[in-house]
Amino acid sequence: MSKPSAIPAVRGFRDILPEDCTHWHTLESAARELFALYGFGEIRLPILERSELFARAVGETTDIVEKEMFSFRDRDKDETAVTLRPEATASVVRAYLETGLVHRERQARLFYTGPMFRRERPQRGRYRQFYQIGAEVLGRDDPLADAELLVWLVRYFDRVGARGVRIELNSLGDEACRPAYRERLRQFGLAHLDALCGDCHRRLERNPLRLLDCKVPGCRAVIERAPVMRDSLCAACSAHFDEVRALLDQERVPYALNLRLVRGLDYYCRTAFEIVAEGEGLGAQNAIGGGGRYDGLVAMLGGPDVPGVGFALGLDRLAMAAPRTTDPELGPAALILPLEPRAVAPALRLATRLRDEGLAVGVEPAGRSLKALLGVANRRRARLAIILGPDELAAGRATVRDLASSVDRRHALDLEAPGPELARWVRAEVGA
Ligand code: HAM
Repeated sequence: MSKPSAIPAVRGFRDILPEDCTHWHTLESAARELFALYGFGEIRLPILERSELFARAVGETTDIVEKEMFSFRDRDKDETAVTLRPEATASVVRAYLETGLVHRERQARLFYTGPMFRRERPQRGRYRQFYQIGAEVLGRDDPLADAELLVWLVRYFDRVGARGVRIELNSLGDEACRPAYRERLRQFGLAHLDALCGDCHRRLERNPLRLLDCKVPGCRAVIERAPVMRDSLCAACSAHFDEVRALLDQERVPYALNLRLVRGLDYYCRTAFEIVAEGEGLGAQNAIGGGGRYDGLVAMLGGPDVPGVGFALGLDRLAMAAPRTTDPELGPAALILPLEPRAVAPALRLATRLRDEGLAVGVEPAGRSLKALLGVANRRRARLAIILGPDELAAGRATVRDLASSVDRRHALDLEAPGPELARWVRAEVGA
C-alpha cells in the first residue's frame, strides 16, 4: 500500500504556533484590560450568520459581499444561505437587537475578539481567516463617543509598544448630505469615463463612492482630482466632525486628515478612520485597523433608530507591528529525567506536585542515556535537570543539575518532601 500523502491547510488559512500565540495573548490581554477601563463588556458571537445579514449591513456592492464571502447552503429544510462572518459589526447589531440589549440600557459598550473570513487573494498580512479585536458603542450619537474610541486606540498602541502608527480620519457625511456628494462624484466620474477601469464603470452606476476605493493606478490618478466629501458636508455633520477633532486635539491624539478615505463597508456615516502602520514589516497590507460611525445600521437591520460607532483591529497585522514583549525562548523551570522505567512513576509524581505548586516543569520518557536526556533539557532551555537514576531511587532523593553552570547537587531533592517544600527549593534554585 502506498504511503498516504499529507493534507495541506486550505489556501489562505494558516496555523498560529505557540511562540506567536504567546505574543497574541499579550496583545489580547492588553486590550481586555483597557476595555475594562473604558467600560466595555465582552460579547461572544457566532461565526456563522445568515448571508442576508452581511448583504444588508455591509452592502451588496462592496467587494466583501460581491466576491469575498465564504457562503453555503445549510442542510436544514429551508436550505438557509449562511456565511462565515467577514466582520463582526453586523453580528453585534444583530445580537443587540435579538437578545434585547437594545431595551436594557441607553447605551451598550461591547468588545469582541475572534476569527473573520474573507476570500481575498492571500499574501503577507492578508489571510482568508484572520483575527480581529473590535469594539462597538451603540446608542450614542455624540462626538465624545467617537473621540473616546480613538483615545482608546492610541493608548492601546502605547501599551503594546506599537510605534509608527498613524490614524487617518475623514467624515463621510450622512443621509442628508451624502446623496448630493454621490451625485457630484458620479458626474465627475462620467466626465472621466475614458480614464477609468471597467470595475469603476460599474461602480459609477451602482455606488459611485466605491470609486475612491479603486487601487488601479490609472483610476487613482483621476481620483486624486475628484471632489471630496468634506466640501459637501451639511452643517450638522460638519459640526460633529469639528467637535470630534477638537476632542482629539485636547487629548493630543495625533491623526492625519484623509479626505478620500471611504472604507470598504457601506454602513458608515460621519466619522470614518483607518489605522495605518508605517515601516517595512507589513508591506502593502499596512491597515491594522479601521472603524467609524454607522448611525443607520441598527434601523437597517430591523431595529429602532439607534446610532453606533466602533472599530476593529486586525490582530494578524497588529502582531507584526507590535514588538514581542515576552521571551518565547523561556523554557520550563525544570525537566525531570527518569533514567530507567522504574523511575517513570516517581518522576510523574514529582512533576504533578511541582505543577500543583505553580511551577512549569516537564517530564521526559525513560529509555535514553543521561547524556541524551541532558541534551533534551538544554534544547528545551530548562533551568534545572532533575535526575532520577538507580542511585536516586535507592536513596529516595533526586540529583539536580543546574544547566547553566553544569553543577550537580547530588541527592539534593527529597522525593517524599511535601509539595510546597519541593517547590520552595526549586524556586530558590532558579531564582523565581
Ligand atoms: P475592516 O477595515 O474591514 O473593518 O477590517 C478591520 C481590520 O481587519 C483591517 O484594518 C485589517 O487590519 C484587518 N483585516 C481585514 N481583512 C483582513 C485580511 N484578509 N487579512 C488580515 N487582516 C485583515 C471592519 O471589519 C469593521 N467591522 C470595523 C468596524 C467596527 N467598524 C465599526 N465597527
